[in-house]
Amino acid sequence: MSGKEMPGTLADEDARALASLMAFWSDAGVDASMADAPIDRLAEGRKRLQAPVRPAPLPRAAAPAPIAMAPAGPDIAQAAADARRLASEAPDLAALEAAIGAFEGCALRFAGAASKAVFARGNPQAPIMVIGEGPGADEDAQGAPFVGRAGKLLDKMLAAAGLEGRVFITNTVFWRPPGNRTPTAEEQAACLPFLERAIELVHPKLLLLSGAASAKSMLKRKEGILAIHGKWFEWTSEDGALTIPALPTLHPAFLLRQPQAKKRAWGDLLTLVHKLEG
Ligand code: URA
Repeated sequence: MSGKEMPGTLADEDARALASLMAFWSDAGVDASMADAPIDRLAEGRKRLQAPVRPAPLPRAAAPAPIAMAPAGPDIAQAAADARRLASEAPDLAALEAAIGAFEGCALRFAGAASKAVFARGNPQAPIMVIGEGPGADEDAQGAPFVGRAGKLLDKMLAAAGLEGRVFITNTVFWRPPGNRTPTAEEQAACLPFLERAIELVHPKLLLLSGAASAKSMLKRKEGILAIHGKWFEWTSEDGALTIPALPTLHPAFLLRQPQAKKRAWGDLLTLVHKLEG
């Protein structure tokens, strides 16, 4: 603690340092680790070391085989088929958002997301569609994509590249994955028909795929994002009817953790603008 603050209060500088540290952990997905009282893990370890060692119990007879198998998880093919039917019936973006809100085929919907589905924001006639990974805590709370720290950085970079008001922003999944983990391929597959319908309705000239989870899912490629960012690929819809040039780039949350990578992401944006203007 610095300065002459009252005992029990934090100096401005300490409070800012603490806020910055909390934001760092929050960006890393650690948003539920607080307890009201501190826990002395070292004392717990000492107690365990001092406890008398009990002999391990003798092995018991083999447990009976389980009678029933655990459910095999949601039927992704069925969920995707339902999503495709619902999406195809949506004549516009408002109807599509309502259809997503009514959809129960993505497991993320029931995995702890606090709010309704997080669909999209931006210009519905935009020449560029930005596709991120999935909503985080701020997006879940506010019901719109990319509104937290990463989103603010994304907005600043887009504005600096002259793209303010020229983007439509959405994600590969529409509910927050618990703890900000990466969405699974199944979760993305269940949401894909809605994303494809959004692409069809907005009909952007170019796609900007933000981060590895978006690039992998949209382009079905195995390479890491550092290997493919800034290179052009063709995105093709599942039925092959629509093809749009797609540019993978580094995710703004990654740039917040690795500011030295901003130069690369800026290069990607210039590549995007060049193609759009050209
Ligand atoms: N990260 C994403 O990929 N999407 C959001 O909407 C927010 C953070």
